[in-house]
Amino acid sequence: MKTSRRLFPRALTLILVIPSVVSGQNATPVELRIHADQVTAHVSPLLYGLMTEEINYSYDGGLYGELVRNRNFKEDAKDPVHWQMVSDEGAVGSISLDSGTPLNDANRVSLKLTAAKAAAHQSVGVANDGFCGIPVRPRTAYHASLWAKAAPGFAGALNLAIVSNHGPVIHARAQVPQLSTEWRKYEATLTTQDAAVSAENRFVISMTAPGSVWLNMVSLFPPTYNNRPNGNRKDIMEMLARMKPAFLRFPGGNYLEGNTVATRFDWKKTIGDNSARPGHMDDSWRYWSSDGMGLLEFLDWCEDLHMEPVLGVYAGYSLRGGARFKPGPDLEPYVKETLEEIEYVTGGPNTTWGARRAKDGHPAPFHLQYVEIGNEDGGDRETGSYEGRFAQFFDAIRLKYPDLKIIATTPVTTRAADVIDEHYYRRSEDEMAFHANDYDLRRRQAGPRVFVGEWATRVGDPTPTLGAALGDAAWMIGLERNSDLVIMSSYAPLFVNVNKGGMQWQTDLIGYDTLSSYGSPTYYAQKMFSSYHGDEVLATGAQAVPSREWQPPAGRGGRGPAPATPQQTPMPQQAPLMFFDATRDSRTGVIFVKVVNRASTAYPVHISVAGMAAMEPSGEGVVLKGDGPQDTNSITNPEKIKPTTVRLDGLSTNFTHTFPPFSVTVLQMKGK
Ligand code: AHR
Repeated sequence: MKTSRRLFPRALTLILVIPSVVSGQNATPVELRIHADQVTAHVSPLLYGLMTEEINYSYDGGLYGELVRNRNFKEDAKDPVHWQMVSDEGAVGSISLDSGTPLNDANRVSLKLTAAKAAAHQSVGVANDGFCGIPVRPRTAYHASLWAKAAPGFAGALNLAIVSNHGPVIHARAQVPQLSTEWRKYEATLTTQDAAVSAENRFVISMTAPGSVWLNMVSLFPPTYNNRPNGNRKDIMEMLARMKPAFLRFPGGNYLEGNTVATRFDWKKTIGDNSARPGHMDDSWRYWSSDGMGLLEFLDWCEDLHMEPVLGVYAGYSLRGGARFKPGPDLEPYVKETLEEIEYVTGGPNTTWGARRAKDGHPAPFHLQYVEIGNEDGGDRETGSYEGRFAQFFDAIRLKYPDLKIIATTPVTTRAADVIDEHYYRRSEDEMAFHANDYDLRRRQAGPRVFVGEWATRVGDPTPTLGAALGDAAWMIGLERNSDLVIMSSYAPLFVNVNKGGMQWQTDLIGYDTLSSYGSPTYYAQKMFSSYHGDEVLATGAQAVPSREWQPPAGRGGRGPAPATPQQTPMPQQAPLMFFDATRDSRTGVIFVKVVNRASTAYPVHISVAGMAAMEPSGEGVVLKGDGPQDTNSITNPEKIKPTTVRLDGLSTNFTHTFPPFSVTVLQMKGK
C-alpha cells in the first residue's frame, strides 16, 4: 500500500463537474473511484469538536443549569428585573435594590424584602420568573441556595416554593426556619410530586412575619448532568455527548474579547464560589453574563464529555473603540494573566494557581495541548498590532510551556504558529458547496496546520435548514478529505435559546427552550461525520458530478474570475451538487464512503474500488434526507429530519448505489 505525501493538491481527488445537470435520470452516470491502496492523509483524532461562547443565551438560560435569572441583582442598576413582589391578600410589603448592605466586594447590591404587614396566611415575597419560566417535572429534586441576612427584630422563616403562574398551585416547597442577622448561605431541597411538565412557573421566596431581609446570589438548580454542583442541563449535555466531540474551544468568540477590556472574559472573576463572582456585561452580545459558567466549569464540561480543552486567551484586543494594548509593558499584565490561567488549568497543587484550582474543587491538573491567542485578530486593522501581540504571548508561553501548541487567529510571520484558526460563514448553500473543495487546492508546506474554528452555512433561523445542512456536509467532506492539513473544526454558534428574545445570531446548531432541546439537520450531519469515519483517507476520483450555476455575491465569492472592480458583479460559477470522500478504519478494515447529494433528484453513482480483491456483499448505510432544502427541525417538530440506518446488499468492488435527493449518506463496507 502507498501513502502519498503531498506538497500540493491531491491529484487523485479528481472531480469532473458536469454543468447544470437537472435530472438524475437523464444524466451521465456519476462515477466514483476509490483507491483502497492509496492513503492520502490520516484523519486527525481532533477533527470534530465544539466551539462555544456566551451568545444566544448559550449558558445563562441554556446549558448552565441555573434556573434563577438575575440572581445577584446586577442585570439592571435601577430595577430588580426578573423579580416581582408578591403578596397574599391583605399583606403589605415592598422590594428594592440596596447598595448599603453588600454581600461582599463582588456583589455589593442586594435585594431588600420588607413585610410591613404579614401573618400566617398573609405572606409577602419576591418571585423570580427564570429564563422564560421555571421548568417543572414530576418527582424531581431542585437544589435551592441563597445568601440572606435578617434585619434586627425579624424572627420569622423564609419559605421557598416553585409556584405555578396559573392559580395557587405550589409544585414544591421548603423552608429556612431561622435567619441570622449576618450574611449566611442557606440551602434547601424542593421536590415535586406528580406535577405535570410545565415551564409556566416562578420561584418564590416569602415571609409570614413582619420585618426586613436582604437576599443575594439566589439560586435554584434542577438535577444536572453527572450530578455536578453548579452543573449543566442534562438534555443538552446528552445531545452533545451523542456528537462525540473531540475538543471544546472556549470561551469565544467575541465573548472572549468583549467590547472593552473591562468586559472581556476576565477568567479570575469566574472562579470560586458563585457568591464571589461579580458577573459581567456580555456587551458583544448585549446581555448580562452571570459567569456561573466559569473557567473551571468549562474544564468540567470537557471532562464530562471527554473533550480536549482548546483554551482561548485574551490577547490585549477588544472589539470597540480601538481597545488594544501595544506590545511591550502595556501588554505584559495580559501575558502574565494568560500564564497564570494556563497554570490554573495545568499546574500541580504545589503551584500558586494549581493550588487555587484544587481549592476550587479540582485537585488534578487538566490535560491541555492547545492555546489560542485571541479571536479573529484579522479585525485589528492597526499595522503590526497582532504580529507584535502574538509574538509577546508566543515567546512567554513557549518559554514556560514548551509543549503547548499555539494557535494564531490570523496569519503571522515573525513567529511559527503551530495552527491557524480560520473562520467561514457562508450566506447560501451554493456558496458553501462552491468552496467545499477549497482545501484540496491549498498548498501543503511546512507551516501551520489549520483549525477551522468557526464555520456555517447561514441559512435557517434559528437553526439551519436541510439545504444548509447539505452545504455543511459538503464542507465537512472537504475538511475530512484534507485532514492532514485541517486538524480541527467546529461549527459556530453551537446553541440558541429559541424563546422570544433569545437569539442574537441566526443559524445555530442546537436549539432549546425552557423545557426541551433539538438538533438541527446540521447537528445530525455532524453526528454522522464524527461517528462514522476511519483514520485513513483513501484517494478518490469522481467524474460527471452534477452542478448548478451559482452567482457569487458582489465583493465575495472566492476563486473564479475576479470582477474588474469590487462593485462589479462577479462571473457566475458552477456549484457542485454531489460530494464524496472515503476513509478506512485501519484496525477493522471498514471503509466509510460519504456522499452528499444536494440535487432534487436521486442519482445513481457507479462506485468502483481499486486495490482490493473483493468486498463483503452486505454492509450498513446511514442516511439523512428530507423533502426539500427548506425542510427543517424545530422545537415543535424536533426530529423531522434525522438519520436512519439501512441494510446494504449487493456491495462489491464494482457496484451502483442510488443516492436520494437532498441527502447525506455514509456507506459502511468491508473488504474480504
Ligand atoms: O459565532 C459568532 C461570532 O462570529 C463569533 O463570536 C466571532 O468569533 C465571529 O465573528
